[in-house]
Amino acid sequence: MRTADTPEKLRLQVADLPRPLILVPTMGALHQGHLALIRKAREIAGSTGSVAVSIFVNPIQFDRPADLAAYPRPLADDLAQCQAAGVDLAFVPASGSMYYPDRSVTVTETLLSKHLCGATRPGHFDGVCTVVLKLFNLFQPEAAVFGEKDFQQLAILRRMTRDLDVPVEVVGLPTVREPDGLAMSSRNVRLTAEHRADAPRIQRALQGVLSLLRCGERSGDLFLARARKHLEESPFLRIDYLELVDAETLQPVGRIQRPAVLATAVFYGDVRLIDHVTLCP
Ligand code: PAJ
Repeated sequence: MRTADTPEKLRLQVADLPRPLILVPTMGALHQGHLALIRKAREIAGSTGSVAVSIFVNPIQFDRPADLAAYPRPLADDLAQCQAAGVDLAFVPASGSMYYPDRSVTVTETLLSKHLCGATRPGHFDGVCTVVLKLFNLFQPEAAVFGEKDFQQLAILRRMTRDLDVPVEVVGLPTVREPDGLAMSSRNVRLTAEHRADAPRIQRALQGVLSLLRCGERSGDLFLARARKHLEESPFLRIDYLELVDAETLQPVGRIQRPAVLATAVFYGDVRLIDHVTLCP
């Protein structure tokens, strides 16, 4: 496996990688969710193409300095996992090598980022779009693979590539879960044992509304109230948001007439976790 730690070295490595080149952008602390994306990338690349992974804890997408400081960074283990997964090139930019000190251009999505994580994490998606566009420009991959777990991020990145004519196919993959239903996340390792034991309730609270849907219920308020009650039964978590939005436009909906997404972000202490369920009428 090749590695590069600056954009300049990366360009040299990318130049002689066999095509197609499929990119999996990550912030490291790799888990089975990331590995599923890497497997998908290999499937798309085929045995003669190339798979690249970027590992970069992107400072400009963090709205809370404490979250950035506490983000796990098990780099040696991440590189070993990439190697074992058959990754051809790992890009691990040294801090400071990705952004010019006087950088002044940012990519901003103005519609899909209005609600959900975009509303409670100011500037977050500007940071995501900016770094992903930079990665796309550096690697010039044929395709890039992202997780549906961050479904708002995926929708925004699809919109960015569409609106800016970025010649990269954005591929989405379903959320990979722990056996108890908790969505895998690099932040899960920061949960206390008590919080970890409680956290599967997030998915149960969201899945719990599916019985309402099957009974023909369509009122958004009822779905929100049912899920909120289940979440609030926890003595540990604090709800950051719980919203019902249209699956395409990501704008809030009052009734479920088209596919909708019930999405939540919760805090266990200072660990923030997200999850969602899609509701089809
Ligand atoms: P990170 O949180 O490391 O996630 C990297 C990729 O893995 C994202 O596409 C995310 O959706 C996917 N992923 C995370 N958990 C997953 C799970 N349980 N199942 C399936 N896929 C999962 O998302 C980011 O990093 C950053 O915002 C990034 C896109 C790299 C830009 O900095």
